Amino acid sequence: MSLKINDNVTWVGKIDWELRHFHGEELSTHRGSSYNSYLVRGKEKTVLIDTVWKPFAEEFVANLKKEIDLNEIDCIVANHGEVDHSGSLKALLREIPGTPVYCSKAGVKSLKGQYHEDWNFQPVKTGDKLDLGSGQELLFIEAKMLHWPDSMFCYLTGDNILFPNDAFGQHYASELMYNDLVDQCELFEEAIKYYANILTPFSKLVTAKIKEVVGLGVPVDMICPSHGIIWRDNPMQIVEKYQQWADAYQENQVTIAYDTMWSGTRHAAEAIAEGIKEANSTIDVKLFNIGKADKNDVVTEIFKSKGIIVGSPTHNKRILDPVAALVELLKGLRLQDKKGAAFGCYGWSGESVQLLNESLQESGIELINEEGLKVLWNPDKEAREECARFGREIGVALA
Ligand code: FEO
Repeated sequence: MSLKINDNVTWVGKIDWELRHFHGEELSTHRGSSYNSYLVRGKEKTVLIDTVWKPFAEEFVANLKKEIDLNEIDCIVANHGEVDHSGSLKALLREIPGTPVYCSKAGVKSLKGQYHEDWNFQPVKTGDKLDLGSGQELLFIEAKMLHWPDSMFCYLTGDNILFPNDAFGQHYASELMYNDLVDQCELFEEAIKYYANILTPFSKLVTAKIKEVVGLGVPVDMICPSHGIIWRDNPMQIVEKYQQWADAYQENQVTIAYDTMWSGTRHAAEAIAEGIKEANSTIDVKLFNIGKADKNDVVTEIFKSKGIIVGSPTHNKRILDPVAALVELLKGLRLQDKKGAAFGCYGWSGESVQLLNESLQESGIELINEEGLKVLWNPDKEAREECARFGREIGVALA
């Protein structure tokens, strides 16, 4: 399959409807994904921007051959070395050895590091241009740490298309291909999940990069990311969303994420939720048993929240595995301007709440109550009232 985007640009990627996990098993992708590769035919030069993930390399090359005589490809742009976009380079360059590969300086390192090949690398930096003929150019913009050191955008003059690689993408398989044709709820659900789970640690760089690209003053008629749909209807809407998401984003929401062994911590979570609602009737309180819920979906809800309340019973003087995995994830995300609190049941030693408090603080989350709430055994009426009081304190702090 290929898709003609306009007279000069053709999508030659792969829609992966089966994908359910990405980055190994780290990130859930309930709606699949796509690896977008674009063939740009200038008047004098033909350029391929990115490839697809290695399992689809043979299929990719075969499809590309249907679209173009491979020898007519003058150069390849590798905007990013991660294997979902570079994974077919080896198969492609076996067919057209010596073809120049334009990438950032860090891209040379990551591509060499992964493929151990000495391809015809042409390192480029921000401001460098590739002349495609008749005045049309491909302008390179380094996008370091969005989300790898090698990440790069490029911009096609004349057609006014931004190719930002992972930025503005979504793990979202759709044959409809364009933002104006797909279900808007699905699209933005996947776009914010992608941002929350992948780009959150780099929010300050996102803000700076958007400022830099907007500062170029070039028109953007289309944004063609490397995953998911193409933004052609008001493409700047996703840029505006990114500006909001990168700026300590929060909705009027609090997420309670817990795990429980014999329902004691669940009962505590529910009583805390009641207390929050009593004190703050407008806030959206969402509860997740992190042992059962998808952790990346929960991260997305946490990203949208003002407050993060985490609970675990004490088990072997520690916290339960699913909660440990969640708080470990939070440490890396470097969320901005969030408040939090910890709670949990115990029978004798009761270390969990202190451990959770430490994890929340290490994640840069401001504690609403520095002690947290420890509940002995399964909460009785009095303990549930204490949980509700704790919830009311949270509700007031998040008002
Ligand atoms: Fe889609 Fe960072 O690779």
